Amino acid sequence: MLADAHSGEEFLLATLVHNAEEIAPRELKPSLYELEGISRESVEAHYKLYEGYVAKRNEILGKLADVDLSAGNQVYSEVRALKVDLTFAIGGVKNHEIYFEHLGGSGGDPTGAIAALVERDFGSVEAWRSDLKATGMGGRGWAWTAYDWDEQRLFNYIGDAQNTFPIWNATPLIALDVYEHAYFLDYQTDRASYIGAFFDNLDWRTINDWVSKYQIQK
Ligand SMILES: [Fe+2]
Repeated sequence: MLADAHSGEEFLLATLVHNAEEIAPRELKPSLYELEGISRESVEAHYKLYEGYVAKRNEILGKLADVDLSAGNQVYSEVRALKVDLTFAIGGVKNHEIYFEHLGGSGGDPTGAIAALVERDFGSVEAWRSDLKATGMGGRGWAWTAYDWDEQRLFNYIGDAQNTFPIWNATPLIALDVYEHAYFLDYQTDRASYIGAFFDNLDWRTINDWVSKYQIQK
């Protein structure tokens, strides 16, 4: 029990987590099983990992809630490990939710508001596509097209893992998974062909819904 300096009352500093409520995996939409050039088996591989990230996120919050802070220095390395793992798990959840949600379309060039943003910030659709493809070929885990609210423009960011390297105050609109599980079943080592298939299945309506929901202005 610790004394509350402000009220003089005693309270129990019991936990690092006030709300350890669990989340559940989202269901896959049926169109994810009918993608062009990305097999059902590959989608299932992503989904299995995604379910694992959801479970891990729940488990870590539970463990953080049970950390005994009164042990002081003895728990900080455990706190570090749990907090780092939490970023990996939540990253894996968010990245895959974007991935699943914005596939299932017919690809092609962007339309509507996102087309205008891409042309303004990359010069052309072709330049944006080349940039994202190169980012995906160079990355070890992800490439994202995201809107940076401070710079008020799009960037294609690189990610080596679920928790590297997001930027503060940027909203991802496109999430290209380039982990090996994303392409090895369908293309073996030919990641470039998988990236082509990814572009062919993008659903621009969904991406434009996000541009609208987040109120990103050109
Ligand atoms: Fe994945």
